[in-house]
Amino acid sequence: MNLVIVGFGVVGQGLVEILRDKAPVLEAQFGFRPRIVAVATRTRGTLFHPGGLKPDHLLAAISAGSLDHYPNEPGLVRGLPALTLIRESNANVLVEASITDLKTAQPALDYCHAALETEKHVVLANKGPVALAYNELQAKARENGRLLRFEATVMAGTPSIRLALDALAGCTIQEARGILNGTTNYMLTQMESGMTYADALAQAQALGYAEADPTADVDGWDAASKAMILAAMLFGKSLTLDSMEVRGISSLTPDDIEAARAAGERWKLIARVTPDGATVGPVRLPVDNPLANVSGSMNAITYTTDLLGDVTLVGAGAGRLQTGFGLLSDLLEIHAMARGISAH
Ligand code: HSE
Repeated sequence: MNLVIVGFGVVGQGLVEILRDKAPVLEAQFGFRPRIVAVATRTRGTLFHPGGLKPDHLLAAISAGSLDHYPNEPGLVRGLPALTLIRESNANVLVEASITDLKTAQPALDYCHAALETEKHVVLANKGPVALAYNELQAKARENGRLLRFEATVMAGTPSIRLALDALAGCTIQEARGILNGTTNYMLTQMESGMTYADALAQAQALGYAEADPTADVDGWDAASKAMILAAMLFGKSLTLDSMEVRGISSLTPDDIEAARAAGERWKLIARVTPDGATVGPVRLPVDNPLANVSGSMNAITYTTDLLGDVTLVGAGAGRLQTGFGLLSDLLEIHAMARGISAH
């Protein structure tokens, strides 16, 4: 498997770190030995080497500020545009880990189309294209016999997507609801212990949980984008941000938080998705409600099903390795399917 990685921020670096550190295990257990043939960033350079780039050098270069610090070697090409790398390199999988844009999903949406048109699989941590264009991308993936995977977009690597699509296949899912934003859950937990809103947000940013523009987190848009992904995937419904009722946590005051605490309750930012639509907003939950005890950057999702009743999954919702793992889990699925197909 040859990867072109677009976006080399917290998440892209997390994936490369995992691929470096787990290389022996991944090869021994799964025969999985991916090569990173290209990495593209918006402002910090691009690199291409058909024989594979070295994870250590990639991580050292970006830590030093730019891919320009990657050492020269024969066969290395610098500066090709992302779209050229996607269309023309020897990659067969696009890993889209660039910044989420919830208005246009661009430029990532064009990258996904280009990859599928040139018969590459697409794996995303970027929520924009999945939230805004799920149906058209899935249709194009099917037309071209390629896979579109996006486990990392909802609850980082915690298998919220795989649970619904694979493990619960055969059940009818009637509703999904949960805590789908790590930044705000982390902030609410810290604010319950007396931290200010500004300090809690600064910490969530320092820990790599927040979006590039954290208003997406605190105003509820990030959770809303995940609700859009779930609505499309579970119910075939294309929602728009304008059509949803979305409220965040920025209007919650220390007094609101204290009042809830005194009443034995906690504020949580809850997203709810049904076949009729989706909502996001802060809800006061009694502390004996399981969702009230999901704290810090943890997330949770409950699927209501016809055959099993409620099934709840709790796990990491954001973070470098946690989201990097979401990408890895999709790459491993593609690898397993490719091996399965070639075995016949
Ligand atoms: N900013 C997002 C969050 C990252 O805090 O949940 C994961 O999608």
